Amino acid sequence: MGMARCTRGSIRSTVYCRMLVGLLVCEMSWFLLDHVVAAGDGGVVYMDSSQLIEDRVTDLLSRMTVQEKIGQMTQIERAVADPSVISEYFIGSVVSGGGSAPAPRASPSVWADMIDKLQHAATSTRLGIPIIYGIDAVHGNNNVYGATIFPHNIGLGATRDPLLARRIGAATALEARGTGIPYVFAPCIAVCRDPRWGRCYESYSEDTQLVRSMTEIITGLQGQAPTTNTPFVESGSRVAACAKHFVGDGGTVNGVDESNTVINYKKLVEIHMVPYVDAIAKGVSTVMISYSSWNGHKMHNNHYLITQILKSRLGFKGFTISDWEGIDRVTCPWHRNYTYSVLSSVNAGIDMVMVPFQYASFINTLTSLVTDGSISMERVDDAVRRILRVKFTLGLFEQPFSNRSLTSSVGQSDHRELAREAVRKSLVLLKNGQTGNAELLPLSKNVPRILVAGSHANDIGNQCGGWTISWQGAAGNTTPGTTILQAISNTVATTTQVDFQEAPDANYAKGKNFSYAIVVVGETPYTEYEGDSTTLTIPSEGIQTIQNVCSSVQCLVILISGRPVIIEPYLPVMDALVAAWLPGTEGQGIADVIFGDQDFVGKLPRTWMRTVAQLPLNVGDPAYDPLFPYGFGLSMNISTTALKNYVVKKQVVVFFESSA
Ligand SMILES: *[C@@H]1O[C@H](CO)[C@@H](O)[C@H](O)[C@H]1NC(C)=O
Ligand SMILES: *[C@@H]1O[C@H](CO)[C@@H](O)[C@H](O)[C@H]1NC(C)=O
Ligand SMILES: *[C@@H]1O[C@H](CO)[C@@H](O)[C@H](O)[C@H]1NC(C)=O
Ligand SMILES: *[C@@H]1O[C@H](CO)[C@@H](O)[C@H](O)[C@H]1NC(C)=O
Repeated sequence: MGMARCTRGSIRSTVYCRMLVGLLVCEMSWFLLDHVVAAGDGGVVYMDSSQLIEDRVTDLLSRMTVQEKIGQMTQIERAVADPSVISEYFIGSVVSGGGSAPAPRASPSVWADMIDKLQHAATSTRLGIPIIYGIDAVHGNNNVYGATIFPHNIGLGATRDPLLARRIGAATALEARGTGIPYVFAPCIAVCRDPRWGRCYESYSEDTQLVRSMTEIITGLQGQAPTTNTPFVESGSRVAACAKHFVGDGGTVNGVDESNTVINYKKLVEIHMVPYVDAIAKGVSTVMISYSSWNGHKMHNNHYLITQILKSRLGFKGFTISDWEGIDRVTCPWHRNYTYSVLSSVNAGIDMVMVPFQYASFINTLTSLVTDGSISMERVDDAVRRILRVKFTLGLFEQPFSNRSLTSSVGQSDHRELAREAVRKSLVLLKNGQTGNAELLPLSKNVPRILVAGSHANDIGNQCGGWTISWQGAAGNTTPGTTILQAISNTVATTTQVDFQEAPDANYAKGKNFSYAIVVVGETPYTEYEGDSTTLTIPSEGIQTIQNVCSSVQCLVILISGRPVIIEPYLPVMDALVAAWLPGTEGQGIADVIFGDQDFVGKLPRTWMRTVAQLPLNVGDPAYDPLFPYGFGLSMNISTTALKNYVVKKQVVVFFESSA
């Protein structure tokens, strides 16, 4: 999800929303007067944690008015979520959109204070149903300043290490809970079939089997489910997860974001849907619906796939949630007929709607559609039953407020160590030495003078990519971490002189006796449709830096990118090349490997094309002539014994955990 692409005609102003709120309150007040069941009564089944969850759900549902039910189906943005709005509309959920924080650089306790304030409003309503606060924690709790930022999913795919993904899930859950948040919109289990897609880095792989294995991150986020196919959250240090985006998001024509996936049902299942079977088996609590269409039919109002397939055939028992303004986008132009949007998507089986701004309009529209029978009470009850089931499973009724003993988990050192390990394992060595010459890697730590160059060498924002602090992410010093330059400086001998030049000209390296150069360049941050690309090039300054440096000194190029990019023309001038994907805050993981303290273990999770004209190009295609095939990845042949000794010496935890 993300911010709107097409905001024309959509009401974004808080002032306007508040006006609508005022009008609706008058209409609704009779409901409030009519119903005076006190929450928390002794003997009330739904408040009794010793009762079965299904009995608590049934009991609570039987006490709810239509307005209270509709409120549960409504998710609104933090920016419009005043406590008064929560209580007046019985709002069920609040979302932080990409970059939507209570304040710039807000601390974990400021986050928790904000959420607790909203929660207080919710639990003070007639029935006291807590809100569920959700956030895009897609590579760590990435909207939060100071959180550990893990490699984006494409890098995790390169590790081929599901147990690592599970540990990252657990760490992310803890950092989310540390800010008072019990629900994350992750993992993205898209199978990206075309890297022109601006969200390709959110996909673990083009290969369905690899994506399936990485759904293990759900076990980390939620805990190990005791039974399959039942929503499960183990404890107050885990979160509810969200498998997204159902289904076919990674299969759109030419990789155009939110567009159309043209494929027959059998292939849709085999390529794109199978990871949902794994996610559901692991107890995933929620599923987000895709903006995209399947053979021209919008997923957001696809009754067949949401209700008949996902809920009935796959047996999904948690709740479905729309994407951000997802129901608005079932029409073209967006929001052309909101009645149609609400009617068709709720009847298709969407349970919670990420409205997220025009809640009064959503609630009004849904209320009239229920009143006139266009949407049945049975459908509303199914939606609310599923939402309440997840809330009870999460323990929200018992512990609605944030646990302040977890605030220190945000950015804690063992999470950073884990991210560093993930970075090490995600690196893919694509070239090491010119043909017929010696390998360049591992680099020597003990040389007089080296050059570090490029736009991505000393830039945390660039190495984190999109979905970092802000929706699109940004270059610059956006959050604490270790840049690649800092990591290199930390690792070479104290006597080694490290020169850094962001954009050296063609003469810079000449006559300076550099032993070697490390050039770090790549894509600048993006996400969603803003990242769609028809050329898959990196900025020309990056190419220029490669040429300027590599033509005069032996060079290692470290490429920071969310996907394979066009590099074949520049490959001859590079002495070595490492694909580092979007590693996140822990740049030290890169220095750990290029200097030989660890070996390369990463393998390409995607096919590396030669030209855009070859796309889509995926492993198993009949005509397959990539620059580097799926699964490619060199190593430095550093003996395992040498590495084990190193591990012991440095006392770093489990580098060699198998991914059984
Ligand atoms: C909007 O959608 C509703 C529900 O499908 C339909 O009844 C109505 O005619 C539509 N309005 C317009 C102006 O097309
Ligand atoms: C808060 O978290 C700590 C650490 O995980 C845990 O020991 C404690 O039981 C939690 N408190 C509550 C009220 O859940
Ligand atoms: C470069 O190295 C050579 C040979 O070691 C030496 O003679 C020369 O003075 C050095 N130049 C600089 C600029 O350090
Ligand atoms: C590592 O081993 C492979 C296969 O034995 C060999 O082709 C490659 O040159 C070796 N690389 C290094 C850096 O020794």
